[in-house]
Amino acid sequence: MTTTLIRGGLVITAAEETHADVLIDGGRIVALADHAAELPWNADQVIDATGKYVIPGGVDAHTHMEMPFGGTYASDTFETGTRAAAWGGTTTIVDFAIQSVGSGLREGLDAWHAKAEGNCAIDYGFHMILADVNEHSLKEMDALVGEGVTSFKLFMAYPGVFYSDDGKILRAMQHAAGNGGLIMMHAENGIAIDVLVEQAVAAGRTDPRHHGEVRKALLEAEATHRAIQLARVAGSPLYVVHVSATEAVAEITRARDLGLPVFGETCPQYLFLSTDNLAEPDFEGAKYVCSTPLRPVEHQDALWRSLRTDDLSVVSTDHCPFCFTGQKELGRGDFSKIPNGMPGVENRMDLLHQAVVEGRISRRRWIEIACAAPARMFGLYPRKGTIAPGADADIVLYDPHAEQVMSAETHHMNVDYSAYEGRRTTGRVHTVLSRGELVIDGRRYVGHAGHGRYQPRGTCQYLG
Ligand code: URP
Ligand code: ZN
Ligand code: ZN
Ligand code: ZN
Repeated sequence: MTTTLIRGGLVITAAEETHADVLIDGGRIVALADHAAELPWNADQVIDATGKYVIPGGVDAHTHMEMPFGGTYASDTFETGTRAAAWGGTTTIVDFAIQSVGSGLREGLDAWHAKAEGNCAIDYGFHMILADVNEHSLKEMDALVGEGVTSFKLFMAYPGVFYSDDGKILRAMQHAAGNGGLIMMHAENGIAIDVLVEQAVAAGRTDPRHHGEVRKALLEAEATHRAIQLARVAGSPLYVVHVSATEAVAEITRARDLGLPVFGETCPQYLFLSTDNLAEPDFEGAKYVCSTPLRPVEHQDALWRSLRTDDLSVVSTDHCPFCFTGQKELGRGDFSKIPNGMPGVENRMDLLHQAVVEGRISRRRWIEIACAAPARMFGLYPRKGTIAPGADADIVLYDPHAEQVMSAETHHMNVDYSAYEGRRTTGRVHTVLSRGELVIDGRRYVGHAGHGRYQPRGTCQYLG
């Protein structure tokens, strides 16, 4: 095992900023020392970080590599998606294994292990999507928690696909209350939305922008409220995924003010994009179809404010890319047939750094919402999400002054468009280490498929 010394950078964690040198041995961080102290440290490899931030690798707790959805598959495989994640400064993903209706959690989890194993450039873990809550799958939840799959996503949306009714949701929550699992909720009233979808299509309102119009903010808020009340009844914690509406944020804020164990996540697309994108002409709006949907731009202020006050705790990508050609096009003439999902695993750290540049969040809050909080939320901290002795040496050297223009021409995600095409940002990933091994070396990819290891997770570290 080689030793590595990262010298001269500004080390930023969620807790502090220090001019420190970082010593790595055997894939772990073994020591940090004030750069000015000039310790007589030797290492096989010395990396000069002068002028760079030295930050923990990003933890993206919401990705869907190769996800079967809408009659097709998300276009990034574990190989291409984790490579793109590394390019963007993310060193751990937590992807969603899926239970098929009529089969067990075990089959779904085994299938996702088979897709990921030997293919990932960075470390990975799994959540489990519960698509069929029954006595058998409830019992299987206990075994999965023991194997490090400690979080379970339920859907109040997508009737006939992933949808669970309130009774099934309550049962799963009661079960999670007993086994320490964290319920993740896709909170949209899918039954009501499907009525509005049918009415819109029948009336000839078939363009992508109608996707945003039928999936109303009030129906996100109503489902969020209902999920919170069900979790209270069950005595279980709750994590609401991809929160996009001001009204839904208000429900989470109210719950947190009551001291309830309710957490919220949002995604860069809700912070940087809006219904204006969904309304782009010539079917271009299809590129921005995801659920929950993009909202009118006014919602963004509430999301940013809640990220500052910790009413929203995590920013993940919900990376679920579909190419415009051949995939998004499945919904020409009927927006309800556009596969739901957007690319972004490569863009998250840079977009959030841009928010630092623009004064929306502090540097430490950037690291908290993108690295430390997702690691804590999903039982990976302090192995992941921080720079400290004992932690995995998942480290990014970030150049805060480099300028970039986001584009499909230059990104590494396996998708034929960028949701942020032409957007200028300040700051860029320079070098990435995963467990002490170089993955990106001064803007060159030097990693390999199979380096990434499965990460069994503990339970949520925000709970007692
Ligand atoms: O549109 C989305 N979000 N696609 C991925 C599946 C989900 O609901 O997270
Ligand atoms: Zn969802
Ligand atoms: Zn998702
Ligand atoms: Zn390796």
